[in-house]
Amino acid sequence: LEAARRPSVIWLSFQECTGCTESLTRSHAPTLEDLILNIISLDYHHTLQAAAGEAAEEARFQAMAANKGEYLVIVDGSIPGPDSNPGFSTVAGHSNYDILIETVEHAAAVIAVGTCAAFGGLPQANPNPTGARSVMDLVKDKPIINVSGCPPIPMAITGVLAHYLTFGRLPELDAYRRPLAFFGQSIHDRCYRRPFYDRGLFAESFDDEGAKLGWCLYRLGCKGPSTYNACATMKWNEGTSWPIESGHPCLGCSEPSFWDAGGFYEPL
Ligand code: SF4
Ligand code: F3S
Repeated sequence: LEAARRPSVIWLSFQECTGCTESLTRSHAPTLEDLILNIISLDYHHTLQAAAGEAAEEARFQAMAANKGEYLVIVDGSIPGPDSNPGFSTVAGHSNYDILIETVEHAAAVIAVGTCAAFGGLPQANPNPTGARSVMDLVKDKPIINVSGCPPIPMAITGVLAHYLTFGRLPELDAYRRPLAFFGQSIHDRCYRRPFYDRGLFAESFDDEGAKLGWCLYRLGCKGPSTYNACATMKWNEGTSWPIESGHPCLGCSEPSFWDAGGFYEPL
């Protein structure tokens, strides 16, 4: 990995909350510092770049010209589609859609980070006032990988980048173009509360005896059985904990149906 050439990465942020970048900054294997100083050349990123205004846009154009056909584009956030009012979300006076299409034209691959970029996410929730679309709705001629989650697990983002740099190709994907290494099993498959589920022992409220004893959260709306992500094994905050370990049901944040398919605290 150390001998490999650092690939140019252009990170585009559209209709998003910066949570995906916040998550990236918590990566510990590799750390963010190691990632951007030793592994990739992060040539454009609103939150992390020192440049601003015209200098920032010039850096994007330079990276595209110098690495034609080889650079990676990472997108977080959804994009108002070509039929939407272009003023809904702009960067440097240009619509998100125009910047996306312009930037991916000579990219080697596109990584959609977060459920908004991968599946539309919160901006696309009914009634979808901006006509929000996912990256794969709009980009049809590039390899696309979806690292979903709201936000994604930081090591899933960095792990995909490290895999691409090491092997020169995208990892094996599931039907939603998510890397199987991180999305190959459901939360329910690996949940430590699963023995309670199998024995029919469920918390019925957040403060009953079952909740205090750590029983299964299915009846409090846990979407673990239909959610594919690595939280149960990788956990969050350097392996400290994860939603279910802190007593909260999985909300299904890495699935296309995250916002519109049923209530968060309603059983399936
Ligand atoms: Fe499955 Fe959720 Fe119960 Fe864990 S808490 S066993 S993921 S239903
Ligand atoms: Fe998201 Fe469920 Fe993990 S809500 S953070 S996939 S436990």
